[in-house]
Amino acid sequence: MIRLLKQLKEIKGTAALSMLFAILAQGGGLVLPLLMSDIINNGIMNGDVDYIKRMGIVMMAISALSVVISIFNSYFSSRTAALFSKNLRRTLFLKVETLSKGDIEKIGTPSLITRCTNDVRIVQDFVLQGLRMIISAPIMLVGGVIMTFVLNPRLALIIFALVPIIAVIAGAVIKTVIPMFRKRQKMLDGINRFIREKLSGIRVIRAFNKQEFEDAKFEDKNIDFSALTLKFNRIMSVLIPVCTVLLICGLELLVMLSAKNLDTLDPVTQRTELISAIGDLQAFITYMLMIIFSVVMAAAMFVIIPRARISALRICEVLDLEASITDPETAETADERKKGTVEFRNVSFAYENAAAPVLSDISFTAEKGKVTAIIGGTGSGKSSLIAMVPRFFDVTGGQVLFDGTDVRNYAQEDLRSRIGFVPQKACLFSGSVEDNLRFGDENATEEQMRKALDISCSSEFVDKLSDGLQSFVSQNANNLSGGQKQRLSIARALTRKAEVYIFDDSFSALDFATDAAVRANIRKNINATIIIVAQRIGTILDADKIVVLDQGKTVGIGKHEELMESCEQYRQIYISQMGGAE
Ligand SMILES: Nc1ncnc2c1ncn2[C@@H]1O[C@H](COP(=O)(O)OP(=O)(O)O)[C@@H](O)[C@H]1O
Ligand SMILES: [Mg+2]
Repeated sequence: MIRLLKQLKEIKGTAALSMLFAILAQGGGLVLPLLMSDIINNGIMNGDVDYIKRMGIVMMAISALSVVISIFNSYFSSRTAALFSKNLRRTLFLKVETLSKGDIEKIGTPSLITRCTNDVRIVQDFVLQGLRMIISAPIMLVGGVIMTFVLNPRLALIIFALVPIIAVIAGAVIKTVIPMFRKRQKMLDGINRFIREKLSGIRVIRAFNKQEFEDAKFEDKNIDFSALTLKFNRIMSVLIPVCTVLLICGLELLVMLSAKNLDTLDPVTQRTELISAIGDLQAFITYMLMIIFSVVMAAAMFVIIPRARISALRICEVLDLEASITDPETAETADERKKGTVEFRNVSFAYENAAAPVLSDISFTAEKGKVTAIIGGTGSGKSSLIAMVPRFFDVTGGQVLFDGTDVRNYAQEDLRSRIGFVPQKACLFSGSVEDNLRFGDENATEEQMRKALDISCSSEFVDKLSDGLQSFVSQNANNLSGGQKQRLSIARALTRKAEVYIFDDSFSALDFATDAAVRANIRKNINATIIIVAQRIGTILDADKIVVLDQGKTVGIGKHEELMESCEQYRQIYISQMGGAE
């Protein structure tokens, strides 16, 4: 938690102002009862109307000032808390962006979302309440205690006998509340995970008529969550009144004792044995109320602090994730002459926590101006293999060389800026078509974008959209068909002037004619290293080099004719897809 609070340094100005106003506001609160008792003792008891008027004006002035100060306190504490959480969210987001796919899977996307939103909000709440209460409660408490002792030490002692009892109750409550809160945040993660998964699969759920089944599952989770929240709130709603009642009992005791003492009122000095003056009793009661109030605030803090601590721990867990893929200390820049060769040298790879490696000992080179194809059944490791080039994952054995240098020796940004990557699952973002293309190259000219659209055969449908390049693409491009999505995703990669273009099964949703047309356009217009992953043999027949993968191993490398001769697996794929006809 302390670590997160260090973020406050960036906004120390507003934070300091808010604390200053908190202290000032309490100062006013401490002075007022003294003035009141003074008015009673000296003004009312002596019938001095002038004195009452004069002091009354002073009191009103101080009260007015207190109000203004309180407003400033609220303003600056809200501002500090909002800025704090803004900074914290930014730090978190920047951190998440440095993480690799594998790193993110350690925490899980739904949990990451809860941590960036709900947990940040809880810490923000803590900062806000903290700036208001953590400063003012101790001042009220200590100030109140000092004032009561100054006014009447004997009475004060009687009252404070109650303090240990309250401390014991509070301790017991905290012990039960903390584990509950940890469980609550976990449940929230679970609900988020559930909603995310079901929303993205809503069509499947409808198609299989599983709504009721899913509703019931959700209902269970929801009931568990609200039951826990209720239990938590019930404990809190008991704690605060109990503390209050205890202290009010003390107050009653005080009034009773002093009332009894009024028998011994001295007719000359107006003093009793226990209470020095009527005005003092009034001040005493006000200070006691202040003490009660500060204890109630402290009780609330006892909930807010552990709650915020758990959220802070969850946030720190994200901040502490070591990015497994990092830049080298001294980055190399690509060798200009070779521009774009990608060489796999004895590459092996195993996913973390997986028993068997998904790739073993793969070696081949993809050359500039040539089309290198990778073919193999699903799960043969094609996507995993090409993920090594932009370093989505790092090899666990061997090397991937880009222009003769290990990819791990480049700065990631530099490396990735040289690669045009089309992922297997077309992922577009909400915004215009142009926004999406500019993902490939921020500074792309209109001509560059048009060309990319032409090559990927996207122009034909983009031009038909109402606003052309400015047409709206919804989240995940749900307003486009599968094939349109894929073509736009290809266009995005082509908008970038890269040295290597990697297409991961990017033609699978295109009909055969479009598939062929896009590939012919690419061959004609693009002079770079091209790596095409495919399951359809038709997509790769004309490639300059075909690598056949089977269960993570290369079982053949060569041109189509050579492989038909030498590679049994390739022949099998060919026969199964082309029906044996050459
Ligand atoms: N993130 C991951 N974590 C663990 N295993 C994975 C992950 N991604 C893929 N795999 C496994 O690696 C193997 C190869 O997957 P993949 O490279 O996607 O194959 P392909 O692209 O050829 O269909 C599969 O058996 C799959 O289960
Ligand atoms: Mg794949």
